[in-house]
Amino acid sequence: MSAFQADSQQLILALSKGRIFEDTLPLLEAAGITVTENPETSRKLILPTNDPNVRVLIVRATDVPTYVQHGAADFGVAGKDVLLEHGGEGLYQPIDLHIAECRMSVAVRNGFDYETAVRQGARLRVATKFVETARAHFAKKGVHVDLIKLYGSMELAPLVGLSDAIVDVVSTGNTLRANDLKEVEAIMDISSRLIVNQAALKMKRERLQPILEAFERASKK
Ligand code: ATP
Ligand code: PRP
Ligand code: MG
Repeated sequence: MSAFQADSQQLILALSKGRIFEDTLPLLEAAGITVTENPETSRKLILPTNDPNVRVLIVRATDVPTYVQHGAADFGVAGKDVLLEHGGEGLYQPIDLHIAECRMSVAVRNGFDYETAVRQGARLRVATKFVETARAHFAKKGVHVDLIKLYGSMELAPLVGLSDAIVDVVSTGNTLRANDLKEVEAIMDISSRLIVNQAALKMKRERLQPILEAFERASKK
């Protein structure tokens, strides 16, 4: 544990800006915790709350599991997509919060005959941020793929000939439609999970338990 966390009364929560922060706020409120600064306007990366013993770290979505795994944060909220890429080592994942719901899908350009390419055993170039999930999906189907790792704007890859297909999260489908792409396979449903550092769960159980229970009750509503 870092000196930052030496006080066992202190709880550190890791969140990413945007939809996860916004959708976690009502759950925190249900646990009696109000974040007193807005990460969209503040430049601070450690945000105070109404409870002097609870602080919120603002990190990239993909970094949330890393902060919690190493105990730099006691708990956090991360998408199943991010957790599958991270591997979940050192993390306890007690609650599906049913927030930031979407699905992981395969998409191609309108006009690309994905089914025929797969049936004929073509080798597909697949661009994605989610290489572990994509690798597992195509291995299970017995499709040979060359994976191209990207960090965002996956929708662009088939349009400029970087790849035949992408694996990305889809919600309304608006981004695919706007870029002349179509969804050809849904891989899995995605939502965000509460994650807890395994050591913190033991050492700080008394402080964490009521918050976990409030999150669980509020996320079922
Ligand atoms: P970064 O901007 O740092 O690259 P990111 O794009 O993954 O990160 P967010 O867009 O806030 O960050 O996504 C956080 C989580 O929300 C994702 O891990 C995923 O589980 C979920 N998510 C992503 N896009 C959508 C969407 N369009 N609708 C609903 N949930 C989504
Ligand atoms: C996410 C994701 C897709 C889009 C899908 O992007 O990367 O591009 O949502 O949602 P849709 O099906 O409703 O269009 P996000 O809004 O997080 O923007 P980003 O590129 O900044 O991550
Ligand atoms: Mg995003």
